[in-house]
Amino acid sequence: MKIAVIGLGYVGLANALVLSKKHEVVGFDIDKSKLDLLKKRISPLKEEDVQELLNKSSNFKVVDTIDDAISGASLVVVAVPTNFDTSINSFNTKNVSGVVEYTLKHNKSASILIKSTVPSGFTKSLSDTLKSNKIYFSPEFLREGHSIYDSLNPSRIIVGYTSEDKSTLKEAHIIASLLLEACNGVTEVNVISSSEAEAVKLFSNSYLAMRIAFFNELDSYAESKGLNAKNIIDNVSLDPRIGGGYNNPSFGYGGYCLPKDTKELKANFDLVPQTLISSIIESNLVRKEFVASQILSKVKNGEVIGVYLLSMKQGSDNFRESSVIDIIKLLKEKGANLLIYEPSIKEPSFMGVTIENDFDKFILKSNLVIANRIDKKISVHKNIYSRDLYRKD
Ligand SMILES: NC(=O)c1ccc[n+]([C@@H]2O[C@H](COP(=O)([O-])OP(=O)(O)OC[C@H]3O[C@@H](n4cnc5c(N)ncnc54)[C@H](O)[C@@H]3O)[C@@H](O)[C@H]2O)c1
Repeated sequence: MKIAVIGLGYVGLANALVLSKKHEVVGFDIDKSKLDLLKKRISPLKEEDVQELLNKSSNFKVVDTIDDAISGASLVVVAVPTNFDTSINSFNTKNVSGVVEYTLKHNKSASILIKSTVPSGFTKSLSDTLKSNKIYFSPEFLREGHSIYDSLNPSRIIVGYTSEDKSTLKEAHIIASLLLEACNGVTEVNVISSSEAEAVKLFSNSYLAMRIAFFNELDSYAESKGLNAKNIIDNVSLDPRIGGGYNNPSFGYGGYCLPKDTKELKANFDLVPQTLISSIIESNLVRKEFVASQILSKVKNGEVIGVYLLSMKQGSDNFRESSVIDIIKLLKEKGANLLIYEPSIKEPSFMGVTIENDFDKFILKSNLVIANRIDKKISVHKNIYSRDLYRKD
């Protein structure tokens, strides 16, 4: 079976590689530099597992045009970005609908599986507009940095359909089996409506954001009252109904997905009464303001605040929507004297702040170092502000 994957970022590439264990997979991306790397079997992502699988997967290749990718494919997987556009208070879904429409026009027999995160109701409305029952939605739950592990060990596989007619449901089950076959073991598989599947994705990410916001507010409280936040979190988390996962305070939730998915869910509520989803977003803003004010209280006028890495997590290879960037903005507004250590930036400055990628110089020049996550390397500095209490997540 030939499968086409359109968009070869974290989601597309991981799916392409695991699906290629059993099928011929052809990938396409509009980013030519990504295609060039992949042609040389070099991973564009800094994930060892991706590189390893790329070395092994003889069934995966990339092509220069979308036509070459979709021609003769039985399944077309769409994994293009859906950024939140504040001017329309929604995800920009033009990339997704463009690829779906093009595929339907040029390969009438293919089924289409949307893996991009989309608003609840999007796939159904697109299938009504394009008059096709062959568009499905499957929420993706992988984490950046663990994209292959998560694709091989998914917490669940969900396929959403747009019509309850027999052949559409049958095809949804076939797609679900295909996804199950690609992963390592047994996991729950559910076939539900596409609007429900889209809601599962948005509610899951909003729950994670809520949990982070909760422990961050607990941490703000503890810091303000002079209490040991770890003593409180350790003991709160001992209740099995609460549990110990995802409870490590941070400068705020961030990354590509949580900020945009919470905003999208809030927008999807529209006239449905809610306060919680709005509060998650608000809480994250308040947290970042609190963290910035705590940082400023720890330096004297003119002293240098060194920002250690812009990424959210240890080992991350990007800093999309990182809360550290918002902290820098807030500190800059207050006239703070900043310096950034971020080896992935080759330019001399970022957001008007000097980059110092000589680590020893960075350490010497910084009166205070701020780090969303602490690693061995930065631990040498004597004056660090971080809320990374557990060295995880
Ligand atoms: N990153 C994650 O951890 C994650 C997890 C779950 C779901 N998602 C969702 O999956 C989608 C993709 O996320 P990602 O992190 O893989 O994005 P990404 O930015 O890493 O990759 C997207 C790729 O699509 C390419 N692209 C853009 N428009 C295209 C087009 N018209 N045709 C072909 N290629 C095109 C880009 O060049 C890029 O390489 C988003 O909707 C995101 O919300 C992401």
